[in-house]
Amino acid sequence: MAEISTVEEKLAEVTGLAQAAQGAIEKVAPMIDDESVSESLEKMKQEAVETEERCTSAIEKRDGRKTAILDKARETKQEATEMMSTYLGDDSDGLDGLEFMTMAEAGEVGHWEILGELSQRAGESELEELTGWALPIQERHLAEVRKGSLTLASQEDID
Ligand SMILES: [Fe+2]
Repeated sequence: MAEISTVEEKLAEVTGLAQAAQGAIEKVAPMIDDESVSESLEKMKQEAVETEERCTSAIEKRDGRKTAILDKARETKQEATEMMSTYLGDDSDGLDGLEFMTMAEAGEVGHWEILGELSQRAGESELEELTGWALPIQERHLAEVRKGSLTLASQEDID
């Protein structure tokens, strides 16, 4: 298999995380019993789809390495999905779901920041631009899942 660069490895990771985020939202959304939180998750899912699409277009321009990068993305998606299965069992509720989403979104923010730094150093202006688009969205996702958690916590039975 073709060797991929560090920047390409990070591009693969953010792609896999965007794919896993869609699966996480599909799993968590039915656990949520609050309209505003559900709406915010739905929007987040659409943005995760768009993120994956933009990442995939960037990967497709990488001649000879496309398959290797997509394989790496799939591996990341699988690892993130396994983490979700470990964290969210059959007895999990909506708040557990948003706690997991908080970790997942924080992971996305961290990975995009790293991709931004590496792209800048490698002179990969297209990936820098992609990061400029994606990072604020991921930061908003993190802020929204934290806010949603607190909304659910405020409704939680504390007895
Ligand atoms: Fe996200």
